[in-house]
Amino acid sequence: MIARHLPRVDHARTFARKVLVGALGTLSSPHHPDRYLELVDPLLATSVTRARITHVDRNASGSVTFTVSPARPVRFEPGSHIPLSITIDGVRHTRTYSPAYAPGAVRDGSGPIVFTVGLHPDGIVSRHLYEHAQPGLVVELGEPAGDFVLSTPRSERLILIGGGSGITPVLSMLEGLAAEGHTGAVTFLYYARTPAHVPRREALDALAALPNVEIVLVYTRSGDGALQGRFDAAHLQAVAPWFADTPVYVCGPAGLVSRVRDVYERDGAENLVHVEEFTPPTYTVDPDDATGVISFASSGVAADNTGVTILEHAESAGLTPEHGCRMGICHSCTAVRLSGCTRDVRTGELDSEPGTRIQICINAPVGDVAVDL
Ligand code: FES
Repeated sequence: MIARHLPRVDHARTFARKVLVGALGTLSSPHHPDRYLELVDPLLATSVTRARITHVDRNASGSVTFTVSPARPVRFEPGSHIPLSITIDGVRHTRTYSPAYAPGAVRDGSGPIVFTVGLHPDGIVSRHLYEHAQPGLVVELGEPAGDFVLSTPRSERLILIGGGSGITPVLSMLEGLAAEGHTGAVTFLYYARTPAHVPRREALDALAALPNVEIVLVYTRSGDGALQGRFDAAHLQAVAPWFADTPVYVCGPAGLVSRVRDVYERDGAENLVHVEEFTPPTYTVDPDDATGVISFASSGVAADNTGVTILEHAESAGLTPEHGCRMGICHSCTAVRLSGCTRDVRTGELDSEPGTRIQICINAPVGDVAVDL
């Protein structure tokens, strides 16, 4: 369906790639043609979607914004996220990032995509991108996913709240609303440490000029903002006293998200809160679950069940399973549970259906468990 709307140049490129891959498939057997295509240009690979960085902006403290040009269409909805993989010192790492609004990508998957990545002190990938992202660097993109998207029909009034690098999905939503000509009132509260930590200033200034959009910059370590300090009910009372009957979309650190939830819950309006949290789940090991052995069938490795997640068990046993977000968002860690019972550490739910694909970063074994890893 996407291909029907591809610009003419992409049709030509796709056709040329198919012809080349078909010919190489015959000539290169038993190896996959990608093995040879990648020697010519990494973006020619057919089994993955690669993208080349074309522009980098380091104007905001603590984050880097870069534009990528994917080798094939990547269509996403504002607010959703895309797994981004990169090889660092020979090890492939995947993280999940929400792209900025991009008219072509939202319409039919064409055109460039912009990511803003916040620097995390211990983040291998965020630090690498923060320090080394430059035009020409090639990354790999996965399938866009996520249900943190605006509901339809659009609400007449909306509140968007972002904190730190949580600006990206909500700003993407706001840009999407502007692009579709939405005229309802939108209030956007953005929490940053200081004015220097606000990314994508130009986009914010352009949106603030719209008659239906109010952008409120709140600084937690500076007195220069429209409001100061961490989110509390008084902030909403000051800029959106009607908030209790208005949907709110919030993305940011866990503390910000839970404080917004609390305020809405006090007004009995928790059903209006839509959240995207970029925080690994915290959980307590249940001693009754931590018995038996976790077996990694393909690797022939087994370890005592200590009650932590299967991903943590695997890493402690010296395995390096593919993973990304470590919080149940990107699905890059999915593996087949061959036998036994596992617990979703976020919800406490148990499941023991053999042959089920599970996300090993958010599932802990309950007793003996075997996984196809
Ligand atoms: S690592 Fe992203 S869902 Fe498990």
